[in-house]
Amino acid sequence: MQFTTIFTLLSAAALAAVQATPLAPRDVYVPPILYPHAGTVWTVGQRHNVTWDNSGPPVNITNKVGRIMLRQGGLTTPLILADNFSILLGRIEVTVPWVTDGSDYQLVLFGDSGNFSPDFTVNGA
Ligand SMILES: *[C@@H]1O[C@H](CO)[C@@H](O)[C@H](O)[C@H]1NC(C)=O
Ligand SMILES: *[C@@H]1O[C@H](CO)[C@@H](O)[C@H](O)[C@H]1NC(C)=O
Ligand SMILES: *[C@@H]1O[C@H](CO)[C@@H](O)[C@H](O)[C@H]1NC(C)=O
Repeated sequence: MQFTTIFTLLSAAALAAVQATPLAPRDVYVPPILYPHAGTVWTVGQRHNVTWDNSGPPVNITNKVGRIMLRQGGLTTPLILADNFSILLGRIEVTVPWVTDGSDYQLVLFGDSGNFSPDFTVNGA
């Protein structure tokens, strides 16, 4: 079988899978991060409240346990800043981890899925 044929079959299968997905609400809830935002500068060791928009959560949230991880240069690092908190809180206090200076840090807030903050700066290592 030629590659293009296999590719076409796979595409068709993927499309069918998408179309077969039930349209019932799945209550995936990924609130956007409000702070830190673009222009935020953090210093290593400081404590800050990460905040996110927790307005209008669906009634049945699939997973309301949150986790915040650090990203740098577009990649998620293994650093967990906060874990096992309710995504409904809208705010969690974190300590800025001991990392190298950089202006390409982001946070990712996980619930059902992940939402990235804009790039911000960490100084003071
Ligand atoms: C985070 O928010 C809580 C509640 O408003 C406040 O008590 C605490 O001091 C804040 N922490 C920081 C580091 O600003
Ligand atoms: C939420 O879940 C409960 C229990 O499973 C169910 O009875 C209710 O209809 C659900 N509500 C919505 C809006 O999906
Ligand atoms: C997560 O938090 C819940 C409620 O505060 C607690 O019962 C549970 O033991 C925690 N789990 C972990 C892995 O820390």
